[in-house]
Amino acid sequence: MLQRSARMWTLCVQTALIATFVQRSASLQDNLVGRLQKSYNPSELSESRFLEYSNLSDKLHLREAINNILIPRVVGTGNHSIVRQYIVQSLRDLGWDVEVDSFHDVAPIKGKLHFHNIIATLNPKAERYLVLACHYDSKYMPGVEFLGATDSAVPCAMLLNLAQVLQDQLQPLKESKLSLMLLFFDGEEAFEEWGPDDSIYGARHLAKRWQREGKLDRIDLLVLLDLLGAPDPSFYSFFQNTESWYMRLQSVETRLAKMELLERYASSGVAQYDPRRYFQSQAMRSSMIEDDHIPFLRRNVPILHIIPVPFPSVWHKPDDNASVIDYATTDNLALIIRLFALEYLLGGGEDK
Ligand SMILES: *[C@@H]1O[C@H](CO)[C@@H](O)[C@H](O)[C@H]1NC(C)=O
Ligand SMILES: *[C@@H]1O[C@H](CO)[C@@H](O)[C@H](O)[C@H]1NC(C)=O
Ligand SMILES: *[C@@H]1O[C@H](CO)[C@@H](O)[C@H](O)[C@H]1NC(C)=O
Ligand SMILES: [Zn+2]
Repeated sequence: MLQRSARMWTLCVQTALIATFVQRSASLQDNLVGRLQKSYNPSELSESRFLEYSNLSDKLHLREAINNILIPRVVGTGNHSIVRQYIVQSLRDLGWDVEVDSFHDVAPIKGKLHFHNIIATLNPKAERYLVLACHYDSKYMPGVEFLGATDSAVPCAMLLNLAQVLQDQLQPLKESKLSLMLLFFDGEEAFEEWGPDDSIYGARHLAKRWQREGKLDRIDLLVLLDLLGAPDPSFYSFFQNTESWYMRLQSVETRLAKMELLERYASSGVAQYDPRRYFQSQAMRSSMIEDDHIPFLRRNVPILHIIPVPFPSVWHKPDDNASVIDYATTDNLALIIRLFALEYLLGGGEDK
């Protein structure tokens, strides 16, 4: 992803801490108001369910998944297809329906390239989906072995780990009208310089394709994970129409913290602004972060963007490797996201 201007970004963060920052020039938000969730409002997980679900984890699997994805995986290379096969096979082994959405496009430096988005669903015939997404390609950096731990090996591993850990709980979603989709975008990274024709290749292709096929309306909510794994992230609510879902993430975090179920939580003391929590109470109404959500946002798909602001200091540097991963933070975030997904998918009583 791209932050358009580092200086503007800093300003934006500071403003957001004082008051809600509203980007006056953007009309995107106005377009979104019309399409809000079909008033879906699942009940909060009960105390006993919350405890039961928060007990589920497989930390060893999460580390294995990260290790399997954490190799240079630039589009078009052998390692890229090894990682793709690993993701596809892991999900098929867990009984998911997996479609590989292949297409080609022309990129600077590389020329014609074959891209492959991975679309995994529990019920391919569902009417609506909660979609959790990441990108599995790594950035091409000539002369550098760039691994992209936070960008985005850790987020993708979190999704595979969710499928692994919750396999029993998710069984009913193989037949329900509301189901779960995991989306692994290809070609998020620019090859030469970030711009409308050199970035988010997979997301641009898929948003266009699903619009043509009339499938975009099936996405209840697209939750995009990016740049996760470094310590002390701060997240913000970017979009007004999904703020109630953002607040549920916050509330899951608060419940876990109260029960002391988060590891080494907020204890490092190095967070710049609010070391007490990951999901901040401030909104940041800005569309300055460009990422895989953009082509969907432009087509009025409701978005939750789980990306830290500021970005991890290792962003697009060779240091974004295994050394930067903070496993306490990574396990904590994976747990929050699992509970959020369970509340979304199973919390509501009727009409699923
Ligand atoms: C959570 O796991 C622990 C240890 O395995 C177990 O003793 C406890 O009963 C579990 N709690 C719930 C609510 O399932
Ligand atoms: C492919 O991944 C392996 C690790 O599995 C690594 O040693 C090798 O350098 C990678 N190849 C390229 C071309 O990046
Ligand atoms: C990560 O990158 C840093 C800086 O490039 C390097 O010093 C360190 O050895 C690397 N760590 C791993 C585990 O590759
Ligand atoms: Zn990147």
